[in-house]
Amino acid sequence: MIVSIIVAMDRNGGIGWKNRLPWHLPDDLRRFRQLTMGHHLILGRRTYESIGRPLVGRKIIVISRRRSAAAGDVVKVVPSLELALEVCRQAQENEAFIGGGATVFREALPLVQKIYLTRVLAEFEADAFFPPWDEREWEVVSRLYHPPDQKHAFPFQFIEYARCRDS
Ligand SMILES: NC(=O)c1ccc[n+]([C@@H]2O[C@H](COP(=O)([O-])OP(=O)(O)OC[C@H]3O[C@@H](n4cnc5c(N)ncnc54)[C@H](OP(=O)(O)O)[C@@H]3O)[C@@H](O)[C@H]2O)c1
Repeated sequence: MIVSIIVAMDRNGGIGWKNRLPWHLPDDLRRFRQLTMGHHLILGRRTYESIGRPLVGRKIIVISRRRSAAAGDVVKVVPSLELALEVCRQAQENEAFIGGGATVFREALPLVQKIYLTRVLAEFEADAFFPPWDEREWEVVSRLYHPPDQKHAFPFQFIEYARCRDS
């Protein structure tokens, strides 16, 4: 099973502000949907609360020490990242996605083989950040530039990274 991070960050590594995304980029949300569709998506409790609903077609696993964190049958709540990944393995998932937030990215980064990054080419006020990472340990598989337009106030790049074999 491949474990992948999917994240959008600004030039400073900012990923969130007041438990929300600092930007609204519909084509990034569309890409997130396409990439994660049909897969397990692992989220921290705060990120799940910020989304506020299950995501159609995704098998959501919420990490929380409180079992009541996400009531209902549509999402599974587990008390650790390790257990979340075990659920994915048991279900014979081929690619599990780590969807944040900052706390979960920090713990997951050493474990993942791929990063689907949206690099927003601007700077935002942020209180949540992607952990420091050494881009030299990662090989760029693809890169696509998205210019600003009527629906997107900022330019951004979709960059897919794979961990270098010798890192
Ligand atoms: N730009 C992006 O791509 C992106 C993606 C996702 C999120 N975000 C942003 O990131 C911010 C949220 O990040 P965050 O770090 O505050 O919260 P988070 O990682 O979403 O959630 C943190 C919570 O998850 C649970 N948790 C995390 N690691 C755990 C572990 N090892 N064991 C048990 N429980 C664990 C705990 O829940 P309990 O307190 O319930 O125990 C913890 O309080 C928001 O601003 C959000 O918008 C951005």
